[in-house]
Amino acid sequence: MSVAVVGSVNMDVVARVPRIPSPGETLLARSSSRGGGGKGANQAVGAARAGGAQTAFIGAVGDDADGAQLRAWLEADGIDVSGLETVAEPSGVALISVDDDAENTIVVVAGANRALTSLTARQRAIIEAADAVAAQLEVSIELVEAAADAARGPAQFVLNAAPSEALTDRETAARILPKVDVLIVNEHELLDVAGLEDREQAIRALAAQVPALVVTLGAAGSVVVLGDERVEVPAFPVAPVDTTGAGDTFCGVFAAHLSRGELRLADLAIAARAAAAASAIAVTREGAQPAVPTDDEVAALLAEERPSEIPTR
Ligand code: RIB
Repeated sequence: MSVAVVGSVNMDVVARVPRIPSPGETLLARSSSRGGGGKGANQAVGAARAGGAQTAFIGAVGDDADGAQLRAWLEADGIDVSGLETVAEPSGVALISVDDDAENTIVVVAGANRALTSLTARQRAIIEAADAVAAQLEVSIELVEAAADAARGPAQFVLNAAPSEALTDRETAARILPKVDVLIVNEHELLDVAGLEDREQAIRALAAQVPALVVTLGAAGSVVVLGDERVEVPAFPVAPVDTTGAGDTFCGVFAAHLSRGELRLADLAIAARAAAAASAIAVTREGAQPAVPTDDEVAALLAEERPSEIPTR
């Protein structure tokens, strides 16, 4: 089983601060660190550590020290980086502040991540051979659409609408959503993409446009909708330290599970439960890629839970 992830890769520069600074304020950080990030690369690491699925990453870095390091970190996870281009623009950087309540702010300087607007022959071949293809919206919408088109064989195309801005354009949404098999959004992205203020109305509106919809609701778990069927999957209660990349961990693990199964509600619920367990572990650790758990760690947490805790209706 194989997963191709098309998306961004950033050097995350993280400052631990006592609280998120106000506009115009200078605040001293307690510590700082650098680590692998970018929604796409984080999802690739999530899929790779979920076990069982060969994972490839498609994106771009600059011809610089950050680019070499980001590539090396992905390779260390056994991820195929033959579709990771090196371009003239500098590697993407994310400036992140995380406070004592695990709240964060993230400013992304996209750089190389915006350089690609079409697929190379190698990238297209990787997507065409994959069982599941995952994309987000931190790269150009042209690249996302090219990936969706290339995935139109037996592969499941999973779109995580993060950040959601590109899909708030009605014409863009009308072009992209019909190519999506599974749409994953958090509550903010759900309302944004649907253009509505009520959660239930937004779920119904988006679920009518894609075969499967997954809405992540943080501590309230997630909702999986497949046609007229729906499952609510609870979250794992944990004390968060850093939530950076938790949604990406969810998407990567979900895509890895999807690459083994089909679009059936029971399979989607199992995938969402494993993804919830992985992201619960991730938020107890610092950083994005460094926080992603292994398959064994996820299995251990899942083993503590009873299947009956997944209510269906
Ligand atoms: O979703 C978290 C990610 O968003 C960070 O790793 C950062 O790089 C930004 O892309």
